[in-house]
Amino acid sequence: MRDISPVIFRGEDNYDQLREAGGWTRPWYFAEDFGQAKLYASGRDPVAYVLQGEQVLDLTQPDPHDPRHKAVVEELTAEFDDWTCRYSGEPRDAWSYLECGDLYDYEGTGSGDRWKTLFRIALDQCDAVRVLDCTDGTNHQRVPVWVTSERKVIRLATLGEELAARVAQQPWEAVRRWLERKQPSVLERINRLRSLDDEFRLDRVHQVVPAENFKKMGVTGASQSIYRGMPEKFEVLPGDWVALRGEYAKMHVRLNHADGPFEVKSLTMVHPSDVYWAGTDESEFFYAPAAWRRPSDSAEQYLKALSADRLRMLCDGEMSSIRQHQEAIAAIQEHVQANYDHEACGTFHGPDHWDRVSKHSLAVSRYLGIDPLVPYIFALVHDSQRQDDGVDPDHGPRAGAFVLEHRGDLFGFLSEGDIETLAKACELHSNGQTEGDALVKACWDADRLDLGRVGVRPEPGRLCTEYAKREDVIEAAVAMSGLSGDHDELHGGSPAQAPAVRP
Ligand SMILES: [Fe+2]
Ligand SMILES: [Fe+2]
Repeated sequence: MRDISPVIFRGEDNYDQLREAGGWTRPWYFAEDFGQAKLYASGRDPVAYVLQGEQVLDLTQPDPHDPRHKAVVEELTAEFDDWTCRYSGEPRDAWSYLECGDLYDYEGTGSGDRWKTLFRIALDQCDAVRVLDCTDGTNHQRVPVWVTSERKVIRLATLGEELAARVAQQPWEAVRRWLERKQPSVLERINRLRSLDDEFRLDRVHQVVPAENFKKMGVTGASQSIYRGMPEKFEVLPGDWVALRGEYAKMHVRLNHADGPFEVKSLTMVHPSDVYWAGTDESEFFYAPAAWRRPSDSAEQYLKALSADRLRMLCDGEMSSIRQHQEAIAAIQEHVQANYDHEACGTFHGPDHWDRVSKHSLAVSRYLGIDPLVPYIFALVHDSQRQDDGVDPDHGPRAGAFVLEHRGDLFGFLSEGDIETLAKACELHSNGQTEGDALVKACWDADRLDLGRVGVRPEPGRLCTEYAKREDVIEAAVAMSGLSGDHDELHGGSPAQAPAVRP
């Protein structure tokens, strides 16, 4: 299952309506446009959804040469003897009604016989249909609507997905009112992120808190964890208050939310410069990753400058797509583990390495402000097609080919663009390149940061991002890999006891 629609809207009295069984007599209709859905719903506030499945039949540009379109339209035509236009009295075929978006109104009685029959036929062979409509409440504009008759195809959009769709479609005042009503914490977090003052940086805490206390809080090295106690469905988000120790977060949430239930959530691989001292207590901080700190005059300016992907991450969490696809990721992991020659390739390039690369992938993605999904999957597959534990110069291209070969099954939940990027990152990962888009750079740096496992200290000049080039980041990565990393990558080469290897 993958997402097959953008965020779409539908007026609902309540969510329970959607839990009723679907069927061809009662498919569910959705509009792409928020305002349109509101018209359809006679002014009720629409709810945002996303459709998921395999196949969409898009009839918004009906094409007689497309065999799928042709089969559906011919069957629809044959179901009814008479196709006379009730206005002109002339014959008018089903293609024309689809193009003009007035099929619903063919009968003029509100029965929608032909309209419903179209979906009975089409939804037999796909999960959803996209079609034009210019009736009921559309002000006679042709607008794309989505139709499905399967409950399992419909999921509620996440807060972040809905926010991105609303920011793109609605006037700011309407977005602001919706946020104030539904999610005031989003506005509070944005206000923190856009008005941060460097005076409150964690560095300053080093000056005001005795070093011993600071160590007790667990602040060591470049990759630490942060914690926050909260209800189960929430994640640690940019701009949130956080604690540097799990016990403190637990105690804090007990004091403030005695009613529960809650749990302590954490984020790992956070760089200390992304944690700000809150200035009230030596244990209270907030999480403000560099990529999310941006001075803006207003919340409107801040939000409008973010891409849809980043608006989603701001509300749902930086890890939200990894969580959403965790089953599919587990399937990839299982497949590569089962098909890997652990004996021949497992010392330097096996699952231990993949695990550390996946951790680095989160940190580098966070620095770049990008979705870590592709870099995280890269970590699992980039060395999975190795034939030996040494140079094996073709293992990158083989990994790239493996991704493309499984684009329809193992990687079928990714967008086409993400599959191409992942394949390219795998193909070229051991060539020493440092140029590419942000996703590719995150993949390559995550891999190279783990060179300490063969006793090689990553050379900043061969890393792609400013983040990975930082001394403290390299230091922490070498410590994580469990070996000394004494040897300089460019001049010292690999130590004698390690074979010649590529990342
Ligand atoms: Fe690797
Ligand atoms: Fe590799």
